[in-house]
Order: sequence, then structure tokens, then C-alpha cells
Amino acid sequence: MTKRQGLASGLTNYGDQDFAIYLRRSFARSMGLSKAMLQKPIVGIAMTPSGFNNCHRTMPELVEAVSRGVLASGALPRPFPTTSLGEVFLNPTSMVYRNLMAMDTEEMIRAQPMDAVVLIGGCDKTVPAQLMGAASADVPAIQLVTGPMSTGRYRGERLGACTDCRRFWARFRAGELERNEIDDVEGRLATTAGTCAVMGTASTMAVIAEVLGMSLPGTSAIPAVHADRLVAAEATGAAAVALIQKPITPSQVMTEKSVENAIRILMAVSGSTNAVVHLAAIAGRLGIRMSGKRLNEISDQTPVLVDLKPVGEGYMEDFHAAGGVGAVLRELKPLLHLDTIDVEGITLGERLEQPQDWIDRRVIRPFEDPVSPLGGLIALEGNIAPDGAIFKRAAATPELFETEGRAVVFKDLADLAARVDDPDLDIAAGDIMVLQNAGPVAAGMPEAGYLPIPKKLAKKGVQDIVRISDARMSGTAFGTIILHVSPEAAIGGPLAAVQTGDRLRLSVADRRIDLLVDEAEIARRMAAFVPRQQPARGYRALYARTVLQAPDGCDFDFLQHEYMGDGDKAQRST
Ligand code: FES
Repeated sequence: MTKRQGLASGLTNYGDQDFAIYLRRSFARSMGLSKAMLQKPIVGIAMTPSGFNNCHRTMPELVEAVSRGVLASGALPRPFPTTSLGEVFLNPTSMVYRNLMAMDTEEMIRAQPMDAVVLIGGCDKTVPAQLMGAASADVPAIQLVTGPMSTGRYRGERLGACTDCRRFWARFRAGELERNEIDDVEGRLATTAGTCAVMGTASTMAVIAEVLGMSLPGTSAIPAVHADRLVAAEATGAAAVALIQKPITPSQVMTEKSVENAIRILMAVSGSTNAVVHLAAIAGRLGIRMSGKRLNEISDQTPVLVDLKPVGEGYMEDFHAAGGVGAVLRELKPLLHLDTIDVEGITLGERLEQPQDWIDRRVIRPFEDPVSPLGGLIALEGNIAPDGAIFKRAAATPELFETEGRAVVFKDLADLAARVDDPDLDIAAGDIMVLQNAGPVAAGMPEAGYLPIPKKLAKKGVQDIVRISDARMSGTAFGTIILHVSPEAAIGGPLAAVQTGDRLRLSVADRRIDLLVDEAEIARRMAAFVPRQQPARGYRALYARTVLQAPDGCDFDFLQHEYMGDGDKAQRST
């Protein structure tokens, strides 16, 4: 039997298929579509506009441009809304809702009659959620990002969200800026549509989507307001139609090898720590596991080649003008798996045989002359992180790489907020700040790992201090910060055993983070551990009950590939 296409696919169950087609066509006619249009194959467009998502402001014109590409190539575009996550508008943190958006995306792709789908996202959690959903639905899919913001100006200085947001805020906290000055800066940080202007989480995930093969080559870094962004959208629509004619599914594109290529580029662009979690979640949907050991091997072989904030100097608009992802991939070519394919069915090797335009070497360095000889991120282990932790060495202070210090513990986010600026806080430069109970189950793993330098230290000129938590940190942040400690404190991870006054040791050379307390004493403290109460109803209860730890991408346990049974496979093929 030939596979049904377009409106005739995925019929509503009335027990009479002919009736279902007849009814669907008659209702579709009420949308003003001709009979000829209704006979075409369909490209769904997962769109995510929202009055709570500034990063997706250009969604209407992107949807229009994708639709133009679909129509010109002979298919019918059908935009549909899904959950949209605007990073700074969500409480307690957008991370809690990434899995909700992933489920929404997966189910709406599967439930509605589409032969291929274009996923339009941009802000931090939206692209991971869409790729997770697409991986599980496994309908031919292609990712389009909204693109990064362009920079603003303040007194002659270029500003871009959100590394500069943090830099100016730190100066304000240290008393170097007046209230009226920080108010002025506030209006200059995010001056165009698009995602954060630096190599933060959104840009890192855009780059990763391209290297995984899920976006068209050369499209991840085009600024949101650049005309080429719309040209890319039109081409994406056309490519989606080609995917109907020659189907390639996400599980054929996102493989163990393409995930390794993605980790490689993550190191080379010195990307966001959050990408490690998101990539683990996407890979987990396909049964692919990422180990800390392999991450460290790749990190030690891969230099940082891109000089962008939050670690370096430039902004995403510079990266695009400098040659973008293609230029970095060419430098990394000997280290890459070249037989991976993208959504057009082209191998990475074939892509890299195409001539590269001019490259701005101030922004994208040659392999022999890198920004740093080692990759930006490493995994740590230790007696407080038996399942691992993540450290962005490229954004840290090298003088703090080997630190032994006294722990100053905050038992949760409320405790941190209440005491961090207390003039009587017992803390000195050289101490190690510890935040507990900010992991996935306890708090949805917010970007609270960038603990503020206590005001009393900031005013003395202390600019960095070792900080440890089970939280995440914004991709635009920087500092000597150990994140994603796993298992988290709230489920009885040994991070819960740390007390103020204990000694802790960070050794980047040994890839370790350890509590220098007798194992018997740690066991005695953990024996007294009492788990916290969790929400009892609704999505938040589902989240707390089923969310996995950081090494599994904080996905829900039942959404991982291992949970796919025969019933799910049968559902997928109907
Ligand atoms: Fe959306 Fe930064 S707030 S990408």
C-alpha cells in the first residue's frame, strides 16, 4: 500500500476512513484553500511567536518566507503553534518547560497530517526542545533559527546581550556605576530582534543544530534582522519539500557520529555549558549516550578557534561576517566524522569540499594559531560529584584552576538571596561558594550557578571566586564555576553533605572536585539526609517525579529512547 500523503495521512479515527478524509477536506476548505492545494503534500511549520518571547519577534516574517519556499516547491505550508519559551519571562526557570515544549512539539508533529516539518525556534530552550521532539517523532524535519541580535552602543562601546548585561551589573554591584548609568545601559543591551548576541546557549544550540545536520549549511549565525535570514527561511521551506520527495528522518541525520561532531564544534566555539545538557537530551531520544570521558578526550584534542564573547571579544554578527560555522568546520576537518549526512543528504565531507569564502582571522583562527589550544569545557568528577560536573575552563580564571579553600554553603536559592550581600557574611577571597538544592528536582535547575560575588568582596575588587552548585549557568556568563553537580543535593547527592567551614579542592589538572572530609563523616551526614517535599499535582509534579539528572540531559525518564516499546513504534507508523 502506498503511504498516504498530505491531508489524507494521519486520519482522525471515526471508524470510517473515507468519511474522515471527506470531513477533513470539507473543513480544510473553510480555510479558503482550493481543491488543488488540498491535494498537495504538506509541510508543517512549527512556529513559536509569543508576546513573552522577544527573541522570536521576527517569527511572522520567517513563517511567511518558509511558506513561500514551500509553495514555490509544490507543497502546502501549514503553520501551527507550539509552546514558546522566552528565557527571561519564565518562572521559576525556562528549563522546567523545555520538556513540556519537546512533548508538545513531538505530539503535534505526530498528530497532525504533515509529510515534513520546519521547526522555527531560537531562544535558549526552544531549539533543544524542537530537536528533542523531532528526534522522537522522526518525521522528516529541518530546523530554522531566528538568528542572533545585532549589537547596540553605549558611550561608543558595543554592547550585546547578555555578557555585557552581566559585566555592567557586576560593575554596578561593585559601586563603579551610578543608578542612572545602569538604567541607560539597560536600554542599550538588546536593541534588535533575535537571540542573545554572543556565543551563549541560543547561538551554541544554533551552531550545534547546523553541525548535527538538522539546519541548512551556513544558516545558524545569520543575524535575525539580516535579509539573508529570510532567504535562508525560504530555502529551508524548499528543502523541506525536497525531504518529502526523498525522505531523510532526524534519526538518520542525528547519529553518534554527528553528536560527536557537535561536541567538537561546541569545544571549538567555546560554547555554552547548557549545550552539554541539551545535547545529552537530544542524543538520549535516539539511544545515544555521551560520556564525560569522551567529552574530555574531545575537549583536549580540540582548540578554541573562535574569539567571541563571553570568553573573547566578538559578537555573533562578527562570527557570521567572518565565515561562520563552515569556516570553523574546515579548520577542524581532520578531527571530524565526514560521512555524516545533513537534511539535504549531503555528507559533511562533500560540504567541506566546497570553496570557502574569505575568513576573518581576527574572529575565526586557524587550527595552528588558536585562541586556546584546549577546548572550552571539561567534565569533572569527585566525591561530591560521583556522576560528574561540568566546568567551562575557557571562561574561568586560570589562577583558580588548582584551589583548596574553605566552603561557604548556601542551602538553597532563598538562602543565597537572603545572605549573599549581608555585610556580616563570613566569607573571604579564596573561599569556595557552594549552592545546594538548585538541581533539576529541587528547583528545575535554574541558571543560578553564576553565584554573585558577595558585595563585600566585590567592593574590595574580588572579581572571581570558585563557585560550585547543582544548578546551570547562562551561556553568556563567565567565572570559575563548577556546574551540574550530579546527583543533585535534593535527591541525596553528596553535595548535600558539604557544610560551611569544610575544605574543598578543585583540581582542573586532575579533573576533580572533592570534599576533604573523612568518608565516614560524609556517610554520617548523609544518613541524616531528609528529602524535600515536591509538588503533588500537575506538570510540576510530573516534572519532579520523572526528570533525570544532568548527564541524561534532564529529560523525563519515560521520553528517553529506551522507553520506546512496540506500542510506540506502531503509533509512529500509523
Ligand atoms: Fe532568548 Fe538570550 S534571552 S536567547
